[in-house]
Amino acid sequence: MADRIAEEKINQIRQAVDIVDIISDYVQLKKQGRNYFGLCPFHGESTPSFSVSPDKQIFHCFGCGAGGNVFSFLMELEGISFQEATVKLAAKVNVDLDLDLTSGRSEKKIPEEIQAMLNAHEILSKFYHHLLVNTKEGQPALEYLLERGFTRDSIDKFQIGYSLNSWDFVYKFLTKRGFSPNWMEKAGLIIKREKDGTYFDRFRNRIMFPILDRNGNTIAFSGRTIGADEPKYLNSPETAIFNKSKILYNYHLAKPSIKKMQQAVLFEGFADVIAADRAGVDNGVATMGTSLTDEHIVLLRRTLQSITICYDSDNAGIEAAYRAGNLLNDAGILIKVAIMPDGMDPDEYIKSYGAEKFRNEVIGASYTWMAFKFLYFRRGKNLQNEGDRLTYIEEIIKEISKLTKAVERDHYLRQLAAEFSLSLDALRDQQKQIFFAEKRKEQGKKPLEKNPAIIQKINVLKPAYYTAERHLIAHMLRDRDTAYKIQELLQGNTFNNDEHQAIITYLLSFYEEHLESESSAFLTYIQDDNLRRIVANIEMMPLNDELSTKELNDYIKQVLNYQKLLKIKEKEMELKEAERQKDYNQAALIGIEINQLRKSL
Ligand code: UTP
Ligand code: MN
Repeated sequence: MADRIAEEKINQIRQAVDIVDIISDYVQLKKQGRNYFGLCPFHGESTPSFSVSPDKQIFHCFGCGAGGNVFSFLMELEGISFQEATVKLAAKVNVDLDLDLTSGRSEKKIPEEIQAMLNAHEILSKFYHHLLVNTKEGQPALEYLLERGFTRDSIDKFQIGYSLNSWDFVYKFLTKRGFSPNWMEKAGLIIKREKDGTYFDRFRNRIMFPILDRNGNTIAFSGRTIGADEPKYLNSPETAIFNKSKILYNYHLAKPSIKKMQQAVLFEGFADVIAADRAGVDNGVATMGTSLTDEHIVLLRRTLQSITICYDSDNAGIEAAYRAGNLLNDAGILIKVAIMPDGMDPDEYIKSYGAEKFRNEVIGASYTWMAFKFLYFRRGKNLQNEGDRLTYIEEIIKEISKLTKAVERDHYLRQLAAEFSLSLDALRDQQKQIFFAEKRKEQGKKPLEKNPAIIQKINVLKPAYYTAERHLIAHMLRDRDTAYKIQELLQGNTFNNDEHQAIITYLLSFYEEHLESESSAFLTYIQDDNLRRIVANIEMMPLNDELSTKELNDYIKQVLNYQKLLKIKEKEMELKEAERQKDYNQAALIGIEINQLRKSL
């Protein structure tokens, strides 16, 4: 921009523009008292802490501390300069800036050193590419890439290059062209030796991937080793022109496609971005070996509605996908997660299965965010095991509680109920309870005591013996004779659940002194708060008036079977031990015992 914008023009714009108006283009604002509130566009959040004051014409976020006036809002959010923001605002409020827009764009305001850094990257990028595709030195690197499935087209499109196996080639190359070593060092292209102040090249004998900013300027490199050198990828350091937490690899090339589709695919590595592009997925971007940041999200949110996360399908990748997904979800972006078989990454997948399968069966078949979480929480759990299963169900219900749409919650609760043959009502109650508990936690309040009616429904998630014991206790509480009868049928065995056993111990001793059952009297008789709550809960259970002999026997069987199963497990251990000690007589005896136990189930 040739001219600086006159002070009076800026004042004129400031007076004409309304900050609420401008911010409303980006953030949904609601009036509350004198101010407006909304979800902060500068960091992911789900409750509004972003406020705008029309009186003061400023904005402020209590969550992340962002704040300023209408100019700084646009500068931060759009990543533009003060001049650019002014031009935008001037257009909005019809202030004529009398600028000569034909004279070279914003270049003049860029400090000379920064421009030199950019220029150095630009010519080096071209030169590295030339070395790769046209020279003998670059031949092995080129062969490596072609062998890996890179095509000449994508090598050109992504300007992939090769850095010579030399300590000072780049140093000489740049100084010969008048670049100051001091600034080239600041640009991360060369490194200064401590002892004598001489310089050497950062990137040597590596495949060079130029990293471009969103305007298409090359601002950094990542060099991949061809041999076994560590690290595998050597990146430019953070510099005045390269900030990892703001840069997304390939954003510049992918932007038109992202805008058109309102959708991007997020990869872990840039080898994946390039392979996907070759496979026809040209809206892919990747972070620079770092995790996703709020700044990345601000950049993405401007151009899209939904993101498909396509990280490596190994443990680390799935963990990272879960983290990134949560951030994106909080920022209101619709998420999908693409999964590949056993630990593969997208690049390997495309090489093994081809482009079409990648498009249709990985990207096209990606999971919804919730379906991904079902998978995520399942990992490392044995759902045959009761403890694991309960943990899993609870984790999923917690996730379901975060959904804001009732239909969605219902959908997933039904899915869960069907999968584990659970009562939908019980799941709904537990979901509600978890929702309110989480809400209280958020508000810094103590969790509520569990509502007994709900505890009772949660019991549906408990093992069969547990429900059986509760039913037996319920009948024992009602009638003294039934209590003694059940005691007899248990043949000296105890209940499997310690609390249940404690309750019937109290109850039987209560009946020694009282001839009639009487709920409230029994409750005062029990000394222990926790047991009292459980009894109160059991008292509330809906029961058939008559306890049929069949029902009674079924319950008893559930209680005893569990103990027999435990006994069988114990005996099986003994059997193994006997076999290990080659005591075959003993082993045979135990075997018979196990068979008898099994038969008696
Ligand atoms: P990966 O190790 O998954 O690399 O790292 P990749 O994409 O599969 O690469 P190839 O197929 O082995 O060539 C993913 C990303 O992590 C960063 C890079 O940005 C890479 O794209 N990374 C990895 C580094 O920055 N340094 C490293 O040493 C390794
Ligand atoms: Mn790879």
